[in-house]
Amino acid sequence: MKVLVIGGGAREHALCRSLSLDPDVTALHCAPGNAGIAEVAELHPVDALDGAAVADLASSLGAGLVVVGPEAPLVAGVADAVRERGIPVFGPSAEAARLEGSKAFAKDVMATAGVPTARSYVCTTPEEIDEALDAFGAPYVVKDDGLAAGKGVVVTEDLQVAREHALACDQVVIEEYLDGPEVSLFAVTDGETVVPLQPAQDFKRALDGDEGPNTGGMGAYSPLPWADPKLVDEVLATVLQPTVDELRRRGTPFSGLLYAGLAITSRGVRVIEFNARFGDPETQVVLARLRTPLSGLLLAAANGTLATFPPLRWSDGAAVTVVIASHNYPGTPRTGDPIEGLDEVSEAEPHAYVLHAGTARRESGEVVSAGGRVLSVVATGETVAQARERVYAAVSRVRLDGGHHRRDIAASI
Ligand code: AMP
Ligand code: GLY
Repeated sequence: MKVLVIGGGAREHALCRSLSLDPDVTALHCAPGNAGIAEVAELHPVDALDGAAVADLASSLGAGLVVVGPEAPLVAGVADAVRERGIPVFGPSAEAARLEGSKAFAKDVMATAGVPTARSYVCTTPEEIDEALDAFGAPYVVKDDGLAAGKGVVVTEDLQVAREHALACDQVVIEEYLDGPEVSLFAVTDGETVVPLQPAQDFKRALDGDEGPNTGGMGAYSPLPWADPKLVDEVLATVLQPTVDELRRRGTPFSGLLYAGLAITSRGVRVIEFNARFGDPETQVVLARLRTPLSGLLLAAANGTLATFPPLRWSDGAAVTVVIASHNYPGTPRTGDPIEGLDEVSEAEPHAYVLHAGTARRESGEVVSAGGRVLSVVATGETVAQARERVYAAVSRVRLDGGHHRRDIAASI
């Protein structure tokens, strides 16, 4: 099967790496890709947000499966454009992707489906904002309703900061603060059958000790040795299946990857957010442990045949990833800095590898930074502790001027 992957971050590099190792994949293409993906897939300079252009590319390549990685093309209807050409596509319709594209929509679906989540108000006026902030008190949780690349959420003790963020949004969701550890649980679904993957934990804050601003994610690990072994079944029954059923009932079935961001609170599991695609960087560690070939699973979701798909196989071991980010990320990142030491990584640590996010290759062959999150370094091991040791040995080989990474990913597991 010929596969076309849309996107160009570390998540797409992880998807492409798994697909490149899959015996059922005869040719692998990616648009637009990045300098690392170019090593495993043929790149095409197509705008990922242009549905007609993506569908044209998929037709001309004879793709048997298109995998849409990021949220922006999904919300823009790229999966619909490909599906309309009769090409199997992994990724929800624009209608179903509103689960991620609008936090207010997601809250409405959860309320109807009886899915446990934080109590919330959707506000559009300063009066509504003040009332909601007052009703919940500190810590304040203020969420821009629309897509904001992981930066639309402010959690703060400071009323003034909360107010300013809320006033800067057109529509804002203000909600109750949830405490307890966070878990990311992904599920592959064809709109009816839901197949959960293994849980992972993401580190969202920029600095060690969960300090600093929220980011897209600075590192992750899987499995979660501390989690209740029944967690996945519970979330399937109380969150994932009811949400998929509700979207089908509304006439907008969700097929693709449903990502539940969860808080394990003292009162039980609560949904923090839904995403309509694989999470980044959690995908890097989840796919590192998946033994079932990826293309068949994604194709079964695209074709509506997940009900007869065999149970997934997983490695017993663990994986840890650490993100190396540009100078000033998550603020406006500095780009164009040379990245050195990439070829030393697998020599220094055979169980580690590098997945590219914001990178570009200059004509001279030099690889330079081209975005906020630059690289994800991944390592596997028998335990989280061993994978962690290995990933940091590998990270120490990579040099990026002004770059930064967290030193405490999976440290206290
Ligand atoms: P989101 O983009 O919705 O995942 O939010 C980003 C991060 O903000 C989450 O990973 C949490 O760490 C934090 N957050 C979001 N909503 C809440 C909440 N209701 N209570 C506590 N923290 C939250
Ligand atoms: N790691 C968080 C996300 O992908 O949204």
